[in-house]
Amino acid sequence: MTTAYATNGVVVRDCTPADLDVVHALHVDAVLHSTAIWQEEPHPRAYFDTWLSERQGDGYPVLVAEVDGVVAGYATYSQWRPHHGYRLTVEHSVYVVESFRGRGIASTLMRSLVERATAEGRHVMMAGICSTNTGSIALHEKLGFSTVAVVPEVGRKFDRWLDLTLMRLPLA
Ligand SMILES: CC(C)(COP(=O)(O)OP(=O)(O)OC[C@H]1O[C@@H](n2cnc3c(N)ncnc32)[C@H](O)[C@@H]1OP(=O)(O)O)[C@@H](O)C(=O)NCCC(=O)NCCS
Repeated sequence: MTTAYATNGVVVRDCTPADLDVVHALHVDAVLHSTAIWQEEPHPRAYFDTWLSERQGDGYPVLVAEVDGVVAGYATYSQWRPHHGYRLTVEHSVYVVESFRGRGIASTLMRSLVERATAEGRHVMMAGICSTNTGSIALHEKLGFSTVAVVPEVGRKFDRWLDLTLMRLPLA
């Protein structure tokens, strides 16, 4: 079922296969030019067809934000860790196209994602953020997440160690 929320001209709806070129482009940019994803080689475009159908088939949301009919970003979550005891805790990711940043789009996507998680009866939403990603940490603080741990040197990319900031949002 498609969900649409219109907030300040931003429409949030479920992702469809037609949106995946943008999702793929955001992924490639993040892999090649940032430490938002701790991976050196981007997935090929075809990976995302399977990714979307599996994720939606498992009942997880993949939301896109549209501005004037143009896809400006996406957000999604899945279970935080694999075992059954973690089923009420989810971990999300959120990406916004560079030319649309600073306009509240990630915030709008995240509010929709939190609404969906709460409606599903999830208990906690987690974010695992590279400690140098101060913009994302500020975004999550503004959304009510608190830092619960900073785990030093658990990642490596671009020939340097990366620390992981774990942030937590209790859901209603
Ligand atoms: C992080 C990201 C999702 C933010 O998207 P956005 O749509 O620009 O965020 P918003 O406009 O909703 O920002 C809301 C608040 O977050 C904070 N924020 C967002 N980006 C920031 C930045 N670069 N520097 C400092 N604070 C920032 C601010 O407090 C901002 O509120 P303000 O505009 O009133 O100051 C976007 O920059 C992005 O896609 N980055 C690359 C991928 C990434 O890092 N994803 C997160 C992985 S954990």
